[in-house]
Amino acid sequence: MARAVLFAAVAALGGFLFGYDTAVINGAVGAIRERYEVGAGAIGLSVSLTLVGAALGAWIAGSIADRLGRIRVMQIAAVLFLVGALGSAFPFSIYDLTFWRSIGGVGVGFASVIAPAYIAEISPAAIRGRLGSMYQLAIVLGIAVSQLVNYALAAAAGGASEELLGIEAWQWMLALGAVPATLYLIMTFPIPESPRYLVRIGREDAARRIIATVEGGDEVAVAERIATIRETLHLESARPGVRDVFSRRLGVAALIYVGIALAALQQFVGINVIFYYSSTLWQAVGFGEDRSLLISVVSALVNIVGTFVAIAVIDKIGRKPLLLVGSVGMAASLGTAAVCFHSATFVVNEDGEKVATLSDTYGMIALLAANAFVFFFALSWGPVVWVLISEMFPNRVRAVAVGIATASNWIANFLVSATFPALADWNLSFTYAGYAVMAALSLLVVIKFVPETRGRTLEEAG
Ligand code: GLC
Repeated sequence: MARAVLFAAVAALGGFLFGYDTAVINGAVGAIRERYEVGAGAIGLSVSLTLVGAALGAWIAGSIADRLGRIRVMQIAAVLFLVGALGSAFPFSIYDLTFWRSIGGVGVGFASVIAPAYIAEISPAAIRGRLGSMYQLAIVLGIAVSQLVNYALAAAAGGASEELLGIEAWQWMLALGAVPATLYLIMTFPIPESPRYLVRIGREDAARRIIATVEGGDEVAVAERIATIRETLHLESARPGVRDVFSRRLGVAALIYVGIALAALQQFVGINVIFYYSSTLWQAVGFGEDRSLLISVVSALVNIVGTFVAIAVIDKIGRKPLLLVGSVGMAASLGTAAVCFHSATFVVNEDGEKVATLSDTYGMIALLAANAFVFFFALSWGPVVWVLISEMFPNRVRAVAVGIATASNWIANFLVSATFPALADWNLSFTYAGYAVMAALSLLVVIKFVPETRGRTLEEAG
């Protein structure tokens, strides 16, 4: 068991990169805009192209993982991430920067498929939810560290576009991503391949040894596990590709659609608006720059606390109850935020920008509501969706199916992030009301379509 935790922790490092890379831009974006003198639209696009890169990476990661193995995919992810971090920190132009951010994005896409898939495949059923949630914990830690790093660097340099030891603070923010990427790369060498992948390629002896190490049990029990895995892989049929899993023949299409819906809804509730744009959001409703950066740190901490709640209970009460509580809490808190933002008054400042202000009371309630939203998300849809996606599909299609669902998550993330600035400009209150409606919809989807996977072995899935 202890070994399984260790192996899962290494794979989860991919989540740290995911969190760091996507959220670090929150603190760098203003300085990049200034340096390259580009408008909000162009910068929005360059921010969100990382997410498109991630979608692309996720889409192909599953097939690569079935060909080259789970560990290889982690290593490719780490290298892409490493060059992406360094390339984007020292760009020649905004196009160059966008290019390197997208390369890093592809790496993040790879990591975001392989981490949950590998963790599910290496974990004993009884603690699989907890280990899967470690991935989300790594994501939220990555987000929190990026916000702290941004805050500290900007403070030390006297602003994100000021120099510190020869380069500007925002360049440090991006370049520092190379540190966890290197660590991730090194750590993937000593961990074993997924036993389910090993059975797939006919290396059953190696698979047997790994299952015996992580799950224990006598020789007969382990041999039985291997036999069941072999059966569920349907090795006699061809390796399924993306198109096959949607066909009737394999009988998993319906499950894939549920996976896509879960993954997309996890983004459509607007969680990343808080993590990518929170500084802008709080300034837009009248908080100063310092306080806004501080609020971002607080939200990142609330996110961590909520994730621990999920880790504590996910294998006890199951996945569905958590999702239900989360949906209700998110709908209520987002609705409250929408009402608060409705009361904002607008003035146009000397630069011609529309600036909003909230009264002290509404400002306080909006702040509490936004953090309550983060809390409810963190104990439910954040971790549980990744856990479910990793364990709801049968062995024979898992890697490809996780890839498809994860790619949908990135596309949805892109759609929300790319549209938020314009929507917020048009009507912040309606925008939040829209996210609240999505949270309500998520409740219906869980009640009607989501399977409970607590305590089941992966061989019982599908
Ligand atoms: C989930 C989402 C991710 C988001 C994070 C916030 O992992 O997939 O996009 O940034 O939660 O905690």
